[in-house]
Amino acid sequence: MPGTCVIGLQWGDEAKGKLVDLLTAQFDIVIRYQGGANAGHTVVVSDQTYKLHHIPSGILNPQVMNVVGPGVVLNPPTLLKEIDMLVERGIKVSDNLMLSDRAHVVLPWHMAEDKAMNEGTADGENIGTTLRGIGPCYRDKVGRSYAVRLGDMLRPDFKQKIARIVDAKRNILSGLAHDGANIDLDATAIYDEYATYAERLRPFVGDTTAYLLDAAEANQRLLFEGAQGALLDVDHGTYPFVTSSNSSGVGISSGSGVPAKWLNTVIGVAKAYSTRVGGGPFPTEQDNEQGQRIRDLGHEYGTTTGRPRRCGWFDAVAVRYTARLSGVDSLSLMMMDVVSQLPEIKVCVAYELDGKRITHFPSHVDDLRRVQPVYETMTGWMTDVTTARKMSDLPGAALQYIQRISELVGRPVGVVSVGPGREQTIFAGT
Ligand code: IMP
Repeated sequence: MPGTCVIGLQWGDEAKGKLVDLLTAQFDIVIRYQGGANAGHTVVVSDQTYKLHHIPSGILNPQVMNVVGPGVVLNPPTLLKEIDMLVERGIKVSDNLMLSDRAHVVLPWHMAEDKAMNEGTADGENIGTTLRGIGPCYRDKVGRSYAVRLGDMLRPDFKQKIARIVDAKRNILSGLAHDGANIDLDATAIYDEYATYAERLRPFVGDTTAYLLDAAEANQRLLFEGAQGALLDVDHGTYPFVTSSNSSGVGISSGSGVPAKWLNTVIGVAKAYSTRVGGGPFPTEQDNEQGQRIRDLGHEYGTTTGRPRRCGWFDAVAVRYTARLSGVDSLSLMMMDVVSQLPEIKVCVAYELDGKRITHFPSHVDDLRRVQPVYETMTGWMTDVTTARKMSDLPGAALQYIQRISELVGRPVGVVSVGPGREQTIFAGT
């Protein structure tokens, strides 16, 4: 059976790139199917660190085909920089990369709209987007009238399409009272620039849906690489403090065009603690010295924006919810080396809401803001685990911590990561 997916179970940045890179050798095709340049997937190979935004992490393995599906929103200049960076560093990027002609394109006005409209939600808290134009591009995709797909950039009427949209966008942006909306939209200059990008991207563009359906039917092994995390899912996450795509397991089929019947294994990736970038509720957040300690130990600064990430304890209520939502079979627990340096570790096992203990994840953001986490506290093991290579190399207290997370989330832990390197990975049963 062909399909395995790697899904982040928190608010993104769970080190999915590392896991995908490790698994890649067992697959024929790696697929990105949602998100865009808001994602930052870091892969460390030997002494080299690669930061990927659009391109699947499978690109680092020359045997593997890499597909960017229709659900991704592409930023051509950023994507081309990514391709150039890989090629300069000796990585093959040629017939091993295919971009969906159905994928939507992020254009300069999307970045301007993101800036101008990121000021706040109705209740005043800022979503704190990555300002990569992701939300506005998805909004145009659903709205249809002002959307540009990658395939459109290769058509003879691309110039007219840009001119028509620029006219409309000028009016829309002029109605927004924000400095970010004051950009000069010159249709000819934008067309000239994007037509050049289109020519460079042309060799990679194709009908990835047909390609993947053929591949699935031919029993090829497909690895789906989720971006962001399930708590940022536009339908099932901490709305409105979410991204604009289905980042939980439910988005795989719509974003790739591969029906659910081909998906048979789901790996949920979670850190041994929690982080979040941007606004929105975060029940186990430690906005204090403890959080700063985790941030320092885990180098918790955004790959895409460099922003310091908010840090806190592992939230088993949230991860149990997203593991169920994404149909997770097993967990990969990342950054165990970070919690291994803490004298005391807490795990949130339930919430209290209006005096009642609950273990379900509230659907409304106002309720989530009001919950009080109920913690279990464990004494830390204060041992360097970065050289551990088998489960039996880990201290007993670390194994207990892993076991407790597994019980609370209701899924077995299949992988434990003790550092960024490929070799710093422990598989269950060792
Ligand atoms: P957007 O995706 O740029 O619209 O941002 C919406 C929210 O999702 C913000 O809180 C971002 O910080 C968050 N976000 C988007 N992409 C990522 C990611 O790859 N990792 C972590 N947070 C992300």
